[in-house]
Amino acid sequence: MTAETATTATDRTPAESTANPLVAATAAGHHRILTGDRPTGPLHLGHYFGTLRNRVELQSRGLELMIVIPDYQAITDRDRADRPAEHAEELVLDYLAAGVDPERATIFTHSAVPALNQLLLPFLSLVSVAELSRNPTVKDEIAHSRQSTVSGLMFTYPVHQAADILFCKADLVPVGQDQLPHLEVTRTIARRFNDRYTTLFPEPQALLSRAPLLLGTDGGKMSKSRGNAVTLGATADETARLLRGAVTDPDRHITYDPEHRPGVSNLLLLTALCQDRDPHAVAAEIGNGGAALLKRTATEAVNEHFRPLRARRAELAADRTVLREVLHAGNARANAVADRTLTEVRAAMGTF
Ligand code: TRP
Repeated sequence: MTAETATTATDRTPAESTANPLVAATAAGHHRILTGDRPTGPLHLGHYFGTLRNRVELQSRGLELMIVIPDYQAITDRDRADRPAEHAEELVLDYLAAGVDPERATIFTHSAVPALNQLLLPFLSLVSVAELSRNPTVKDEIAHSRQSTVSGLMFTYPVHQAADILFCKADLVPVGQDQLPHLEVTRTIARRFNDRYTTLFPEPQALLSRAPLLLGTDGGKMSKSRGNAVTLGATADETARLLRGAVTDPDRHITYDPEHRPGVSNLLLLTALCQDRDPHAVAAEIGNGGAALLKRTATEAVNEHFRPLRARRAELAADRTVLREVLHAGNARANAVADRTLTEVRAAMGTF
């Protein structure tokens, strides 16, 4: 697990990776994957089909997996993080239940890796204020923020995210669409650092899931904080209740038409993802059954698909010390990598 073994992403063409990211990712050489989830609540089905499933798949193909739990990102849009350590443990629970192997993966928190955080300072010097204020994801988060003022961290966290990715010289980052602007910031920083000092960092590539985006049950963006998401750990009854309340439309004939029938199509997509089928085929099967049958079908599909994961999750939840041990071991490994990179950065910049 040395930082030096990470390769640059130049051995793959962009066309290859868009055609089939997983195949392209595993095609050539050693790759280090880094991704993460804010410790602000449990993961939901959108996370699962958007990135979590990909991570497990990539790990099972032998790629090295790093997962950051970015606790400093939890204070970008709220005054205080609500029980960040507890949420971090819940995330570990979700990861392990989904099949991440903690022996091979490095799961760590921002706040426990000082050398990673120190990279923020030189990295901030590599981007302009104009670039930071153009970031569309940051703009959207400001629009939905619970604060009356916008903090400096809100504007600069994408640079910190670059440190998350570059401290371990990760070259592949499985993320959702909303993270692409941050990936661009990371690539810019890597390129400028390499140009200005010494070539140290690969320019990482995003690995977008091929699964289309799932919406929340209210038709908006699925989100931990908007109460519109089925969590991985939800019970079968909670799942049924949430999906019963999902927004649909009055047309009893069920068709897959994401543009004109977003609510209905979202439930079809969810069913299709759980059953590894085509959403049109699910729609044809329901036919004139209406929204009620559609919701029952989706509920059964979700509860069936997630039953083993949820059983594993409940088993693991019985012993919190295991979760803490996974984080301690991950933090120790991340610190060793970050210290090594910071030493290289100091040498490249000519500082102490
Ligand atoms: N910004 C990501 C989110 O909101 C979380 C994150 C932090 C992340 N650091 C990362 C994702 C590094 C990928 C790589 O979900």
